[in-house]
Amino acid sequence: MKKLIDLIQEELVKAFTAAEMDPSYARVSVSNRPDLCEYQCNGAMAAAKAYHKAPIQLAEAVVEKVTDHSVIGEIEAVKPGFINLKINPEFLADYLSKMQNDEDLSVEKAKNPKTIIVDYGGANVAKPLHVGHLRSAIIGESIKRMGRFMGHNMIGDVHLGDWGLQMGLIITELQERHPELVYFDESFTGEYPEEAPFTISELEEIYPCASGKSKEDEDYKKRALEATRELQQGRRGYRAIWKHIMNVSVADLKKNYGNLDVHFDLWMGESDAQEYIPDMVDYLKDNGYAHYDQGALVVDVKEETDTKEIPPCMILKSDGAALYDTTDLATIIQRMKLYKPDEICYLADKRQELHFVQCFRCARKAKLVNDDTVLSFIGFGTMNGKDGKPFKTREGGVMRLEKLVGDIQNEMFQKISENNTMDEEEAKETAKMVALSAIKYGDLSNQASKDYIFDIKKFSEVVGKTGPYVLYTYLRVAKILKNETYTENLTDSIYNIQDRNLRLKLLAFNEAVWNACNLRLPSYIASYIYELCVLLNTFYQNNHINGLEDEIKKNDWLSVLSLANRILFDLLNLLGMEIPSIM
Ligand code: ARG
Repeated sequence: MKKLIDLIQEELVKAFTAAEMDPSYARVSVSNRPDLCEYQCNGAMAAAKAYHKAPIQLAEAVVEKVTDHSVIGEIEAVKPGFINLKINPEFLADYLSKMQNDEDLSVEKAKNPKTIIVDYGGANVAKPLHVGHLRSAIIGESIKRMGRFMGHNMIGDVHLGDWGLQMGLIITELQERHPELVYFDESFTGEYPEEAPFTISELEEIYPCASGKSKEDEDYKKRALEATRELQQGRRGYRAIWKHIMNVSVADLKKNYGNLDVHFDLWMGESDAQEYIPDMVDYLKDNGYAHYDQGALVVDVKEETDTKEIPPCMILKSDGAALYDTTDLATIIQRMKLYKPDEICYLADKRQELHFVQCFRCARKAKLVNDDTVLSFIGFGTMNGKDGKPFKTREGGVMRLEKLVGDIQNEMFQKISENNTMDEEEAKETAKMVALSAIKYGDLSNQASKDYIFDIKKFSEVVGKTGPYVLYTYLRVAKILKNETYTENLTDSIYNIQDRNLRLKLLAFNEAVWNACNLRLPSYIASYIYELCVLLNTFYQNNHINGLEDEIKKNDWLSVLSLANRILFDLLNLLGMEIPSIM
């Protein structure tokens, strides 16, 4: 169904044209004076100069030309030249009824669904998932769900960092500790054991230990680099260790992401792109895209219009090793071959922007993608602590994700157990959902590109712009609906101001979700959700449905509430928030 604002605009375009004015002035927006009108158009003000007339004269001329009142109920020109509009209540009821009767709430879906790969998560294997990866998971999951909601074929890929120096470090440390392991015996030709020579907790201890040593011991670092190189070149024993590391870590990562309710369609990583590198290197060389510069193979990507220096894309280091650019470019080739995406959308810390600019330019220049393949980057800001510095543990270390989420869940569990009579299992489940809602809503209500302050106390409040407030509102409405019988049906009576404001908000859903999804702004959805919840609470506090004698009114109100909760349900899902059955 068409968005309401477009329908109003269409009417005004006709009126502006009939009044012999340029229809581009017919822009409509939601009123910033809801006490006076619902929508407004300021086009007459803007047009005054061009037509050498007083704005009010032009506004009146436009108003006169609006003769069809099926959508626009009332229209008025007011000084100095605003055009104020109110929706025809019959149309409003009709529009809301259509939403009610449509499974998709009458949202306009994409006309040409696209295949879009979302590259998010980006966890590094064998290194613990830390809070820096939290934003990628939360925002990426939401972007993926929004695309899907609009009807696109969204493919989420975790794109693990699984081929870097951390692997060489672990191999080196493992050899220090257990030189007798068969993996280090180069003459060994048999089958390697199926069981990994370490558990996940050992692995988590090995990496920081090795990483610390490499910073202090030059020779150790050299050995780790060499091990990385040999792994990448295919040394059998190292590949076997690598497989063990992968199995153990990926199982753990799946559990961690699962706990966040973040789900990937593909569990691919940097290592999967390796087989594409040799051919890519030849191709780039043979076609003159790449050249050697001080021993390194590079592709120039600067452009004349650049205002700052864009260094070349690094394809191979002088020792022949592959780099971050190399892997991302090879992954583009792999994705084009396997999935033929219309777009690849990347999520990463905004400090990685230059890397993506370089890769995108190189991919285009070297025609690794089609001319119309979209490559996009969503860079997010840093999650800061209350001191405004990147979020740390109390001891000053990087907070591990599992610990962070666990701590918040425990806190919620305490709160819930104090105020409720749920059994422990249920309280735990509820605590988990509420904690995640606090974290996710706290993140997504900010614009992704901005840094934000991770203030879990504030995020966990049941009042204000928080996840728990939103869940609470939903459950409160759900409870009313559960205890009443009604039929989903709306008349065109509007009974009071809270009723009207709520219905108008529902009417704006289509536009809000459409904008948020197409502009990829989960924060728009978070705002709409909050505004809707405020209106729902105001409505609920002022209008007691329980015991209402007017059956029609009662049914109307229950229908409005039911529609509102359906909208909330869908939107919460777009933010990746689960709803508990009680709170
Ligand atoms: N593993 C990287 C990191 O931890 C993020 C990967 C982002 N995606 C990509 N295709 N480069 O910073």
